[in-house]
Amino acid sequence: MRVPWKDRLLLLLVPPLIAGTFGVPVSAPASAAERLDFQRDVRPVLAQFCFRCHGPDAEHRAGELRLDDRVSATAPRAAGPAIVPGQPDDSVLIHRIMAADEAQRMPPPDSRLVLGPQERATLRRWIAEGAEYQPPWSLVPPRAAVWPAVRHTSWPRGPLDGFVLARLEQLGETPSPEASRETLLRRAALDLSGLPPTLDQLDDGLADPSVDAYERAVDRLLASPSFGERQAVEWLDAARYADTNGYFGDHPRTAWLWRDWVIAACNHNLPFDEFTIRQLAGDLLPQPSVADRIATGFHRNQMANNETGIIDEEYRVEYVADRVRTLGMAWMGLTLECSRCQLAPSLKETKMPVSVPTKSSPATVASSRITRLTSFCGKLASMRCQLAP
Ligand code: HEC
Repeated sequence: MRVPWKDRLLLLLVPPLIAGTFGVPVSAPASAAERLDFQRDVRPVLAQFCFRCHGPDAEHRAGELRLDDRVSATAPRAAGPAIVPGQPDDSVLIHRIMAADEAQRMPPPDSRLVLGPQERATLRRWIAEGAEYQPPWSLVPPRAAVWPAVRHTSWPRGPLDGFVLARLEQLGETPSPEASRETLLRRAALDLSGLPPTLDQLDDGLADPSVDAYERAVDRLLASPSFGERQAVEWLDAARYADTNGYFGDHPRTAWLWRDWVIAACNHNLPFDEFTIRQLAGDLLPQPSVADRIATGFHRNQMANNETGIIDEEYRVEYVADRVRTLGMAWMGLTLECSRCQLAPSLKETKMPVSVPTKSSPATVASSRITRLTSFCGKLASMRCQLAP
């Protein structure tokens, strides 16, 4: 009996199909049928052409108009609101970007910023669609997607197939025939272990006569140590892991104990909350084990400079900034790069939460690390929201 392999594919097939076969960039602009997405389609236009004078920076704000903030952008003004949601023809913003009179045109010609027809059309359409602002993706709680309607209703064997088919139908394409078992085993091995299948793995998968042969092959891959190694790669990248110090000479460092901790955590399915506590502050757990302490190696992944003659304080600050940035990106999906300059005064008031673990750092600093980290991250996130509506 032929095994219905396709219905076991779902998860493994979707990313390559979306990224590869369709050849459509992930951030393709909205088609005529879709609504514009503020972060993807509109914010880049406002940021490039307007925020310099109508953005969060109060010092350089012109005409007391903020276009990064919906309340300000839609507020009543002498000449009428800059934006009247749903009514582009009544919005001063549209009059000003379309103005033939140079003295009226936005951006002002002497700024040397020139808004093209495409960008004008985007702003007009966005206002017509209701001028909604959305926060950055990482601050939006995830919601279950609505399954798309498809014509060829008998083809999908699971929910994800529906998304693949809907896109294919949109492009006027039909699904390819089912791939061979060898191909499916190869894809599963590459996805789950990062490696092509060994000959033994292929032989085992091909020789298995059971109906759930594919699931069994996947289970074997999930149980192999390579699975944790493959999963850990993403986290090691986010944490900026390396086996050398970077900078001058780029000498080796011994950080593989932390790397192996992450791999083991993946292989043992450690829940993400427990993983997070140990990465951030395993040493502060009651009676921390050696492994708990090793987990905090997350904080030691920044580059380290041991060049003779460097100014220690300069690099201490550099390391703290690196770690704040890394922490923001790894856990909050926020780069926090802006905090270095624009938010410097606020940051000075906000103590850096994680002291650089030098031999001299007092134990008392460590004892409040978790509390301070939490409030610090909250503060940074809210500062960042003010900048990025
Ligand atoms: C280089 C600075 C600069 C840039 C860039 C700029 N503006 Fe302006 N904008 C001004 C100044 C100055 C005023 C106030 C004087 C005026 O009304 O011409 C103004 C006024 C406005 C007003 C009228 C406010 C009112 O109530 O009278 C609107 C609407 C406007 N800008 C929209 C935009 C949009 C949209 C962009 C981007 C596409 C933009 N501006 C880019 C400097 C700028």
